[in-house]
Amino acid sequence: MFFPIDPGADASLGGMAATRCSGTNAVRYGTMRDNVLALKVVLANGEVISTARRAKKSSAGYDLTRLMIGSEGTLGIITELTLRLSGIPEAISSGICPFPSVEAACNATILAIQSGIPVARIELLDALQVKACNAYSNLTLPETPMLFLEFHGTEASVAEQSQRFGEIAGELGGGPFDWATRAEDRTRLWQARHDAYWAARRLRPGTQALSSDVCVPISRLAECVTATQRDAAESRFIAPIVGHVGDGNFHMLLMVDLADPDEIKRAEALLERLVDRALAMDGTCTGEHGIGQGKMKYLAAEHGEPALAAMRAIKRALDPLDIFNPGKIISL
Ligand code: LAC
Ligand code: ZN
Repeated sequence: MFFPIDPGADASLGGMAATRCSGTNAVRYGTMRDNVLALKVVLANGEVISTARRAKKSSAGYDLTRLMIGSEGTLGIITELTLRLSGIPEAISSGICPFPSVEAACNATILAIQSGIPVARIELLDALQVKACNAYSNLTLPETPMLFLEFHGTEASVAEQSQRFGEIAGELGGGPFDWATRAEDRTRLWQARHDAYWAARRLRPGTQALSSDVCVPISRLAECVTATQRDAAESRFIAPIVGHVGDGNFHMLLMVDLADPDEIKRAEALLERLVDRALAMDGTCTGEHGIGQGKMKYLAAEHGEPALAAMRAIKRALDPLDIFNPGKIISL
């Protein structure tokens, strides 16, 4: 068995549940929302509750598991998790596929998903991020937009999935799709993807990387990524893009010199336009990283005041003294 949730950094299970995190496998296996069966939680009044049993499904009352998942430590302290594990697939194939444009890569992703190919991972790296990964991880990939993919199944089914994806990529001007089932090749590739953040930072040493995290309906993904790249270039930023594109979720890694006030202003404006763009496309200001403090200002725009009032009422009911992570997600 394995636990399929695969966030970028060295995450803890409690933190992963608290932020409703996901990562590269979510397109096939879902997020923490889908892979936690039950939680034990210490409430503000000191009581300990179990949110569910091990039954696969239940209609018993309010879903407190889902309420706690994504609550970012503001409603209780998670002390125990019951996880849903998945079987390790009999065969895994991984591959990389170059594309002439980010748009073509996004469209191939859409087509692959619409044709029912059960991709386990489908990750976009734009040309700048590929360049960063080449330098950081000693790779020699062509510096063009690229999809990293993985298929899970039997020997026969991963071969078929890979072949069908190759055909789709070809139809959109991409390819060749180079896939391998060797574990060493796979590990090297996914390690490079996981190191994307560190690789990006080397593009402009001495700066901080601010990671954005919008998520849009997949039909709007190509448009959102392309407009964001254009905006970043016009704002004179080095800002590579990586994305869990099967979910419509992508990160622009914005390199910012925090000693330069003008640059900080331009970065904030760019990030705000990005969120506005995603919301206008019926997307969300965060696909997996959460609200914290930095994105509190976007929450009302995303959900509307009445929904925020409902969240506040829940917070007041469960934590009347505001002792759990005060000042995060919503302010009282
Ligand atoms: C990633 C982190 C930043 O996808 O969410 O690499
Ligand atoms: Zn991510």
